[in-house]
Amino acid sequence: MFNRFIKANGRHRRIEGWPLVFTVLTVLAILVGTVVEFAPLFLVDQGMAPNPGVEPWTPLEVAGRELYIREGCNNCHSQMIRPFRQELERYGPFTTPAETAYETPFLWGSKRTGPDLARVGGKYPHLWHVRHMENPRSTSPNSIMPPYPWLLTRTMDLDGLSGQMRALRTVGLPYTDEQVDNAAALARAQAETIAAEIVEQGGPDRLADREITALVAFLQRLGTMGAASTAEVATASNSGGPTP
Ligand code: HEC
Repeated sequence: MFNRFIKANGRHRRIEGWPLVFTVLTVLAILVGTVVEFAPLFLVDQGMAPNPGVEPWTPLEVAGRELYIREGCNNCHSQMIRPFRQELERYGPFTTPAETAYETPFLWGSKRTGPDLARVGGKYPHLWHVRHMENPRSTSPNSIMPPYPWLLTRTMDLDGLSGQMRALRTVGLPYTDEQVDNAAALARAQAETIAAEIVEQGGPDRLADREITALVAFLQRLGTMGAASTAEVATASNSGGPTP
């Protein structure tokens, strides 16, 4: 059987017998493969242009994002909605690359012990998040999420914020000098606004400089900018993906 295969491929066999020709042909084949693999990497820049309306994180949101990373929230929460109907119905429009163009480092995640958070922004009032972080069981009975009560007592550390913003600018986020230099002051101003809203919602009046306020700013921003249009979502949900 093997012999027959060799006979049927006699021409190939002959080429294999010419080391130089065979080497040249092999290199050519590899080169074509390499170009095919690499070309998308060079084109990908266009795909990553942010959607209109997508703004880079504000300084306070950068601080909140750092807390999200520090506390390891991404071990239980993804931030990426896939184009399957059950996800669209539960979480909203699927996440697009252009929408997450400013995600550095990205927090898409791969594990969902808790729900996806890509569009949690605006889903609850600030106070809900404060209570939920202090004790998840107080807002979500039977929740297995751990409590993070220290976020309500620890003071926000804004000393390194300008440096962080500068670093983010180096990797492509379009921050102005003014935003970088005044990062801490801008963060404090936004925190004051959020803290006042928490008080309006009946929450405690001492959170303006606490870590929780930065985290709330970050969470409330998630998915509120540059979502895919309903038309795009309809196409994706009709053209594949398992139904619930
Ligand atoms: C051990 C896994 C785990 C970790 C770690 C975790 N969570 Fe959760 N989270 C959950 C689960 C489970 C739920 C669903 C029940 C609930 O609402 O508490 C949830 C719910 C949430 C919700 C509400 C989502 C919605 O759409 O209702 C938010 C917001 C949230 N978590 C934020 C965080 C943040 C911020 C952190 C880090 C400080 C964090 N979580 C860490 C498991 C986790």
